[in-house]
Amino acid sequence: MNPIICALDTQDLNKVVFLANALHGKVGMVKLGLEFFAAHGPSGVREVAKCNIPIFLDLKLHDIPNTVAKTVEAIKVLGVEILTLHINGGTKMLKEALSVVKGTKMKLVGVTVLTSMGNEDLNELGVTKEVKSQVILFAKLAKKIGLHGIVCSALEAQEVRQECGKDFTIITPGIRVNSGHDDQKRTATPKEAMSSGADYIVVGRPITKSDSPANSAELIWKSLIN
Ligand code: C5P
Repeated sequence: MNPIICALDTQDLNKVVFLANALHGKVGMVKLGLEFFAAHGPSGVREVAKCNIPIFLDLKLHDIPNTVAKTVEAIKVLGVEILTLHINGGTKMLKEALSVVKGTKMKLVGVTVLTSMGNEDLNELGVTKEVKSQVILFAKLAKKIGLHGIVCSALEAQEVRQECGKDFTIITPGIRVNSGHDDQKRTATPKEAMSSGADYIVVGRPITKSDSPANSAELIWKSLIN
C-alpha cells in the first residue's frame, strides 16, 4: 500500500486534475481541502474522482451535531474514501456523523490539533494541556466513539499508537523532506513519520511545488521502502 496522501491545495481545477493524473500510481490518495471545495464544490470532487484515484476530502467539519450530520449526508454520495471532522466538535457531533456513514464505505477521520499549532497557540485559546496530551486525549475519545482514525503530527503518532492500538488509522501531515517548514510547526520527514507509527503521511507543498511532482512523490515512496 502506498501511504502517501498528496494535498492538492489550490483553487485551480485544471491543476488539480493534472496533478491527480500525474500522481496516479505514485501516491495512495489525493487530498482535497476547503480551498478547493469552496471554489468547485461537489462537481469539482466528481471531476477529480474521474481520475480514478481515492479522495481524502479534508473539510474538517465542526458545527452543531445536526448541521454536521446533514453535511456528511450530502458528502456521502460523492464516493470519497475519507472525510475529516474536528474532534473538538464533541461526542454528540461525532456520533451523529458516524450514524450517517454506517453501512457505507466512507470513513470518518478526526482532526486532533492542527500541525500548524504549538503549545503557545493552545494556551492562547485557554487549553492548558501541552499539544501532545491534548492530541492523545482527542485520539482516545475518537477511538472510543468509533471513528476510523485521526490526524495528528508525526511527533505524537507513537504515543497515539500505544494508546489506541493497531486497529486505528493514524494520518500525519506536516511532512517535510528538507529544512523548510512553510507555516507548519510540528514537522517530520516521511521516514520519521512512518517509523513513528503513521499509516499515511500527508504531503502537500513538497510535492505540488516541486519541478516534477511525480518524481518527488516517487522519491518519497522510495525513501520509505528502502
Ligand atoms: O503543504 P503541506 O504539506 O503543509 O500540506 C499539509 C496539508 O495537511 C494541508 O492541506 C493542511 O490543511 C493539512 N493538515 C495539516 N494539519 C492537520 C490536518 C491537516 O497540515 N492537523
